[in-house]
Amino acid sequence: MQNFENFLLNHLPISKSIHPTYEEALQKMLLAGGKRFRPALLLGVVGAYNPLLIGGAYHAAYAIELLHTYSLIHDDLPAMDNSPLRRGEPTLHVLFDEVTAILVGDALNTYSFEVLSNAPFSDYTKVALIRELSVNGGLNGMVLGQAIDCYFENRPLCLEDVKTLHINKTAKLIAASLKMGAIIIGKEDLGDALYDFGIRLGLLFQIQDDILDVTQSSEEAGKLTNNDEAKNSFVTLLGLDEALNQANALADKLMLELNGFDDNLKSELSTLLTQYINRHK
Ligand code: IPE
Ligand code: IPE
Ligand code: MG
Ligand code: MG
Ligand code: MG
Repeated sequence: MQNFENFLLNHLPISKSIHPTYEEALQKMLLAGGKRFRPALLLGVVGAYNPLLIGGAYHAAYAIELLHTYSLIHDDLPAMDNSPLRRGEPTLHVLFDEVTAILVGDALNTYSFEVLSNAPFSDYTKVALIRELSVNGGLNGMVLGQAIDCYFENRPLCLEDVKTLHINKTAKLIAASLKMGAIIIGKEDLGDALYDFGIRLGLLFQIQDDILDVTQSSEEAGKLTNNDEAKNSFVTLLGLDEALNQANALADKLMLELNGFDDNLKSELSTLLTQYINRHK
């Protein structure tokens, strides 16, 4: 992923203005790092089928990371999860102020589509990528999930509804990352299959995140943990043991599904996926 980090450094959001801290704030959370899981998924799919397109694929991988980073900045706001720590750094509303955090989130959201619009693909491919990212990251995807997540604080949901919440707030963007890789290489059927797999992978990712909220320290996680008490998390709903059981069952299922991938996709993605599928263990 070193090349991706270099790409990011060369395409940071820039704004030279009279504002003394805006540009630093725009770049702060992107530079703080993070696992870059979603970019790695997209790049893995492209690398498996058409490595010649990797250079272009960095634009799309970066667009997803921009949208994801905006979602984290807003997720941490006092009105949402009220968290002082992200990616091992103070959050933007702590470091600067709330207005800055809100506006930086807005800016990274729109910048992600600017980056896609400038990607070196045909207009057809670019529109398909823009559609995929906006459908899954927007009003019927991540944003809907976040709306449900916050509205139902201290209002317990049933398991099915919590799954729907997790699929929207987290799984759709992860599924879109895989599918956008397939769009870039022009494989629509593969894209649909990877999207379905990605929904299950993303559901597991959020169940694991719920588990890590109670099993990791804030220092280990680089973000505030033990912060889900009022939330409809898998752990608050089922308890830690049963959440772990459900995560294990889903992990087993995904490992089996992984075996059904084409050999080239397996060899490109199985190290990454095995690591993430088992990260709650
Ligand atoms: C955190 O995402 C928010 C969730 C959807 C659980 P990540 O765990 O991918 O966060 P970073 O990108 O590594 O910081
Ligand atoms: C957030 O879920 C998912 C997003 C869309 C950002 P969480 O609120 O559980 O994520 P963390 O634990 O703060 O990273
Ligand atoms: Mg949240
Ligand atoms: Mg949060
Ligand atoms: Mg969490």
